Amino acid sequence: MSSLPLSSRYRSAFVTGASTGLGLAFTEMLLAEGVQVWGTSRDSGRLPVHEKFHAVTLELSDGALAERVYREASQAAGGFDLVINNAGFGAFGAFAHTDFSVWEEQLRIMLVNTARLSQLALREFLPRRRGVLVNLSSLAGEFALPYQPAYNMAKSGLSALNESLMYEVRDTGVSVIDFRPGDYRTDFEGSVRRPKQNGQAAAGAAAMARAWSAFEKMMQGGPAPAHAAQNLRRALQRGRSGTIRSGRFFQAVLAPFLARFGSLALKRRIQEMYFGL
Ligand SMILES: NC(=O)c1ccc[n+]([C@@H]2O[C@H](COP(=O)([O-])OP(=O)(O)OC[C@H]3O[C@@H](n4cnc5c(N)ncnc54)[C@H](OP(=O)(O)O)[C@@H]3O)[C@@H](O)[C@H]2O)c1
Repeated sequence: MSSLPLSSRYRSAFVTGASTGLGLAFTEMLLAEGVQVWGTSRDSGRLPVHEKFHAVTLELSDGALAERVYREASQAAGGFDLVINNAGFGAFGAFAHTDFSVWEEQLRIMLVNTARLSQLALREFLPRRRGVLVNLSSLAGEFALPYQPAYNMAKSGLSALNESLMYEVRDTGVSVIDFRPGDYRTDFEGSVRRPKQNGQAAAGAAAMARAWSAFEKMMQGGPAPAHAAQNLRRALQRGRSGTIRSGRFFQAVLAPFLARFGSLALKRRIQEMYFGL
């Protein structure tokens, strides 16, 4: 593997959700490697200040706006060599008892508009026969989180998109990385939306409360985001398409390995026990 800094391969990167958590850790790692970063937040005041960092305001719920923002940033950068679709958030609630607009919006932001930015990136990369697209999926695509149905859908969908694209970019000089973090200690848990539950029975509310407290404990016990940034750095040095599971050994290595040999029913039962369901 090359020990050259990433800037020898990637001149400019576009990173969504660069204000905090994993996106900030990726941005800091890229800046330390000499890469110019165009990083986004809904509030540009939350973004880092650095000579190689270019602040971009982006709200991902509006697809046409996101497309315009991406094109403007790309023009300013003279094209991107690396695009990291990282922005995302959780929404916690029972599927049946939550207003459907909550799920719809989460899918629009985290799946549909993220796919739209992925298309823009590939349209830039393919004619030049170079570039790496990284889409932040999650181990939740393999181990669904209870009461986060649209999150699970978005991440599974994104991993499915990444898999599809890996076939399409074969032999083109372009790569697609499906990056699947386990639990990391970020602002994610604090920003999870918890919409009003309509007409939920008491037993359902109690199960949800138990699932929430297991989820909180899991998130708080996760490693620091710098660990994910080092995993991504190694993947970018290789520059090849593939799936990267990143996190604690149990979540990122052992559980996926064991799940391959057990039945889906057993996997579900273990998840239910863990989440107190
Ligand atoms: N932390 C984990 O354990 C974990 C595990 C698996 C996967 N992931 C995934 O990793 C990614 C980063 O998560 P994180 O843990 O770093 O979360 P975080 O600390 O809450 O950061 C989320 C980032 O997404 C941006 N964002 C949120 N909603 C947005 C919207 N509507 N439009 C544009 N930007 C938006 C935020 O930007 P502003 O608020 O500044 O606008 C922020 O920079 C997400 O896709 C998440 O699903 C995280």
